[in-house]
Order: sequence, then C-alpha cells, then structure tokens
Amino acid sequence: MQFEITIEGPFEGIIKLNSKLEAFSPVVKRVPLHGYEHREIGRILIVITGEDRLDRELSIIAGIVTETERGLSLKPGFEIRVRNLAYSEPSAGSSQFAEPFNPIPSITIQPWTPELEHISDPHTIILDPHHAFGTGKHPSTLLCLKIIDLMTKDTSRASNIKGCKVLDFGCGTGLLAIAAIKMGAETAMGVEIDAQAARAAKTNVALNRFSQRIDIKEGSWEVVNDKFDLVLANLVISVLLKTGKSIPSHLTPSGAAVVAGFGENQAKDMKCFFEDQGLTVTRQFTLKGWSAFTMNIDGLVKSP
Ligand SMILES: C[S@@+](CC[C@H](N)C(=O)[O-])C[C@H]1O[C@@H](n2cnc3c(N)ncnc32)[C@H](O)[C@@H]1O
Repeated sequence: MQFEITIEGPFEGIIKLNSKLEAFSPVVKRVPLHGYEHREIGRILIVITGEDRLDRELSIIAGIVTETERGLSLKPGFEIRVRNLAYSEPSAGSSQFAEPFNPIPSITIQPWTPELEHISDPHTIILDPHHAFGTGKHPSTLLCLKIIDLMTKDTSRASNIKGCKVLDFGCGTGLLAIAAIKMGAETAMGVEIDAQAARAAKTNVALNRFSQRIDIKEGSWEVVNDKFDLVLANLVISVLLKTGKSIPSHLTPSGAAVVAGFGENQAKDMKCFFEDQGLTVTRQFTLKGWSAFTMNIDGLVKSP
C-alpha cells in the first residue's frame, strides 16, 4: 500500500524543510496563489510504501517539520496531510497528475504549473486540485463530464446545457462547474462544505478566468437560495442520502439533475430513494462499477 504525505507552507520555508527531508526523496512544487494570499506557497510530496513504514517515517518527518517551524518562527506553520493512495485521487504535482489529458474528447485538463501562461483555448481547463476531490480521473467525475457532454449534443431544449444556470453541489476542485461553463452553460454556482476544497475551487475558477460566471460558496444547502436548470451532485452515498432530498426544490420546472458517487450495485436503492423525492430517473450510466443518473422533476405534482 502506498501513502502520500504532503506538507504545505510558505515557499521559502518549504525549500529549507526540503533540504532536511532529503532522505525521504521529497518532491517540491509551487502552489498557485489564492486570490487573498500574498505569499508564495510551496508543497512537498513524499510517497511511502508499506503501512509498517508509515507510522515510523511519519513521526520522524513530523519531528523535522516541527523543528523547522520553530527555527523559522513560522505562524501559521506547515500543514501536513497523509492520504492512502489506494482510496484517493492523485494529488496536484504527483506524477499521476502531471500531463494534460482528455477525460472526454471535448475537454483537456491541463495540470497547473508555475510556468503556465493563461490558456485561452476554449476546450482546456487549468486545474490545481490542491487536496480537493475532482481531478477528472475518478469514474464518478468522468460520468458527470460525459453526461454534460451528451447534454450539449441534445437538441431538445429542456436538457440542453447551452445558456443554463448550473449548480455543482459538492464541487470539490470546481471541475464540473468549470467544465459546464466551457461546454456552454451561462453561469454556475459551486457549493462545498470543506473550507480548503472551497478555496481550491475558487483558485481554479480564477485560473480559468471564470470569476464573473462561477460563484463558489463554502457551506451546504443553507447557502443556496436559487433554482437551477442543471444540478450536478457527485457525492458519497451517505451524503447523497442526507442532502439529495433538497435537489427537487432547487430545480427549475424543466430542470435536470445529474447524481453520481454510488456503485452499480447500489443503483437500484438509489433509484428508489430519488423517486421517493419526486424525481424521475431518465437514464442510468455506468463506468468501471460506478453509476450515475440523469433525473428530472416531471414526476412531481406541480402546484397550479
Ligand atoms: C466526490 S467529491 C466530488 C467533487 C467534484 N464535484 C467531482 O465531481 O469530482 C464530493 C465533494 O462534496 C463535498 N461535500 C460533502 N458533503 C457536502 C455537503 N453536505 N454540502 C456540500 N458539499 C459537500 C466534499 O467535501 C467533496 O469535496
């Protein structure tokens, strides 16, 4: 099993820390500046193979990090995160997220690098996932992208994405909101409960120069007061069950919802759950054991 340790902090400090961590073969990266930060941030990536080594090496690394923090009087200090690579997506700067790729033929995802000039190509999305979910490599995200792409080809007005107002609920990196705009939506809102992921989404929106068209909000349904033509929700099952009930009340009468994040073997139960909320599942899509639905509220009894 492989584990990835990331350490982030002021770039100068990261360079000093890196020299003390040489024994762990660290890789140093810059992190794109967030709109409201005025210092350069750096990131160290260390990969450790084997659960038995993790505890031992992590405690040595944590000791070096604390000692360096004290020596430099850093406030706030470095931030350490550990991820099990078997269950996570590749992080920004790792070799699995280094080259441009096409999750769907009409979109290229270009991993952010400090040297990167703005890309005005309408099909390219610049992305720094930071620690957030949504690199475009996970099958649940891929399903959502494929469905949005199909919607662009749908000529029936109700489900065409052109000119739509989109909600990306649980936006992670903001990838789906950005992709929706790239594929013809007019505006989008991204909602994200995790403060750091919300910050990553804001950065990605800014990197793609969509700050005028995509509004990222930290929080959950309490920050959403509007109705949308398209609601995208790629969430783990427990969150879908908890938050999915609010989807119908945030859809315009002809709106559509795309939900993902559940397995093919859970699709039957999820269909029952959404139908209980008054939604009609119009199609099911499956990729590598993951499923997604497109739904509308045609089944709802509309008030006169
Ligand atoms: C599976 S990720 C999807 C990210 C991205 N939309 C994608 O499709 O790749 C789900 C995201 O939902 C966020 N989330 C979980 N519970 C939430 C809630 N109640 N409200 C808003 N966001 C939530 C998580 O923090 C996570 O970033």
